[in-house]
Amino acid sequence: MSAMIDVAVIGAGGYTGVELIKMLIGHPNFRPAYVATSEGGITLKDLHPSLKDVYECDVHKADAKAVAMQCELAFLALPHKTAMGFVKALREEGVKVIDLSADYRLKRETYEAHYVPHTDPDNLAHAVYGLPELFRREIAGADLVANPGCYPTATILGALPFMRYRAKGSAVIVDAKSGVSGAGKKCSEKTHFVTINDNAFAYNPLGHRHAPEIAEKLEVEEASVHFVPHLLPVTRGMLSSIYLQVEGDFDPLSVLETFYADEPYVRVRHEPVTMKQVAGTNFCDLYAKRRGDMLFVSSAIDNLLRGASSQAVVNANLMMGLPEHAGIPTIAYVP
Ligand SMILES: NC(=O)c1ccc[n+]([C@@H]2O[C@H](COP(=O)([O-])OP(=O)(O)OC[C@H]3O[C@@H](n4cnc5c(N)ncnc54)[C@H](OP(=O)(O)O)[C@@H]3O)[C@@H](O)[C@H]2O)c1
Repeated sequence: MSAMIDVAVIGAGGYTGVELIKMLIGHPNFRPAYVATSEGGITLKDLHPSLKDVYECDVHKADAKAVAMQCELAFLALPHKTAMGFVKALREEGVKVIDLSADYRLKRETYEAHYVPHTDPDNLAHAVYGLPELFRREIAGADLVANPGCYPTATILGALPFMRYRAKGSAVIVDAKSGVSGAGKKCSEKTHFVTINDNAFAYNPLGHRHAPEIAEKLEVEEASVHFVPHLLPVTRGMLSSIYLQVEGDFDPLSVLETFYADEPYVRVRHEPVTMKQVAGTNFCDLYAKRRGDMLFVSSAIDNLLRGASSQAVVNANLMMGLPEHAGIPTIAYVP
């Protein structure tokens, strides 16, 4: 048996943090050796009672030097802006990093136009965007991976195979839905049970920060991407409906099947996809249909897994030279 690799999870108290810990506990090569929150001073079972008698460890107050003493790689499940402070410190200590926040996903000027001034431009310049279907080879050689956003993951995987057929200058229309865990564990008026239960609504229509990320990776102008996210009264899951005006003669399902023929975590379906069939897994399920020059693509992922934590573990596997599938969940929470 190969030696275990000690890794860190910083931001372990949040939704993506606990998903990382769960996967790392069952991973054949990684051990969650350093687990941290903003305050620390407790044990894992106090932080996540669901893990009592499953895995025991102390929870620390996050500290980059302490991570470097124990771990080769760290997962950061932190809010943007907080993340870049830790990335800088961890990279100075030589620790490989997978950052789940938006801090290293965009070009500097795009990031600063939509978020805050960037305080770690040197690392930003060489961070690799962690979508294996696009950048597998680069991820394998990276020290810093920017894990993609959940909406961009679902949308880019759905739209990418068809961008060569897109009518010149036409719009990329994205109507997407997310479960409430997409907003993180902190409650707000929008995510309050009373607001979201038996309800659904658009938020930040045509102004959400994931639109520039989608545009950058699809290599289209930001103004062409018309992105409207919605909140659904479900805990996890994400559905992205993409509309493209297309040209040329092609069969959409054949395009998808050819494009993703060798991809282990993209499944092409011959009927519209559902969120439930991918919940609890790293799969992105895709379906497409065309009528005349209008193409519809439907993409489903689990926002917490393919949209965040399991995609991060795939990236860690690639960075450490491990089999891509090691420790990656594939069995959905059905029923
Ligand atoms: N939720 C999703 O579906 C999703 C998908 C893709 C990407 N992301 C991104 O992933 C990141 C984490 O998201 P999330 O949904 O897991 O958020 P979350 O549930 O709000 O958790 C964030 C965690 O960060 C911790 N934290 C804040 N400052 C810290 C510090 N200085 N040191 C240590 N821990 C600190 C908080 O811990 P304390 O409680 O200890 O303060 C909190 O538990 C975000 O950048 C988010 O945009 C989320």
